[in-house]
Amino acid sequence: MGEETGLGRARELLRRHQEESRQARSFTLLGREWELHPGVFSPDWTPVTELFTSWIPYPHGGSFLEMGSGAGVTAVWAALQGCREVLALDIARAAVDNTLANARRHGVTDRLKALRSDLFTVLAPGKVFDLVFWNSNFVETPAAADNETELHHAFFDPAYEAHRRYLEQAPAHLTPGGRLLLGFSSLGNHRHLRELVEDQGLEMSLLRKEVRQLPVTVEFQLLELRPARGRGWPEIAVDKHRLGAVTPTRLPPAAQRSADPSGGPHV
Ligand SMILES: C[S@@+](CC[C@H](N)C(=O)[O-])C[C@H]1O[C@@H](n2cnc3c(N)ncnc32)[C@H](O)[C@@H]1O
Repeated sequence: MGEETGLGRARELLRRHQEESRQARSFTLLGREWELHPGVFSPDWTPVTELFTSWIPYPHGGSFLEMGSGAGVTAVWAALQGCREVLALDIARAAVDNTLANARRHGVTDRLKALRSDLFTVLAPGKVFDLVFWNSNFVETPAAADNETELHHAFFDPAYEAHRRYLEQAPAHLTPGGRLLLGFSSLGNHRHLRELVEDQGLEMSLLRKEVRQLPVTVEFQLLELRPARGRGWPEIAVDKHRLGAVTPTRLPPAAQRSADPSGGPHV
């Protein structure tokens, strides 16, 4: 098992999406009916979405950011589990539309927003969540291998650049005591992920795992990232005189919570 197998499996899944996902269809997962739009990752062709969605420790009454929401199953589920505020982001326009369609279908548009964004770029500095999660595109491809279509982003991360940015930027979008999770698998490059985690002064632990016999054997892993021993999450305050600029500052938690930047079109 490993990176080679991961690449083969992801290529096969991408091909299946390209060939068989030309029309909208519906599928059943977690006892509910969902819409799937063309060009969006199919949550019913691998167990990954269902496993992570049922394992996440949703912050009841709190806020949840789903990175890369795809069809929106996890984001909608979070809203149904009692999250007060859910934000779903995806780099793919089709995924954002699909997430909104499923939010409407399940009656959670009052507390779920979906936006197109390359990772955290659409967020205002200082916008924080109790839990941030990404079921990531954990198959690493060479740096030179561009993701040619939006759908490629669902599977491949060239040189783990998106993973690097996720680990670097997510901490600034967590409430004090907020949790940062990553949905990963044995098809990913664990050595590289560990290096990126250490580079950011973080450490990772396994919250839950499950092995499934697909065409290849895959272990699905829900990982939690925390500041490495002896450190805390970076404390960020916003310099309101320079809009959009972020000045790392030590602040008491109450002051941190009230730091409310004005970020133009940002969320
Ligand atoms: C493995 S799919 C998971 C989809 C969905 N969450 C699920 O579980 O069915 C990964 C998702 O991350 C999105 N993604 C990849 N790179 C991204 C980026 N840089 N910014 C935002 N979303 C990204 C993809 O478009 C895709 O929808």
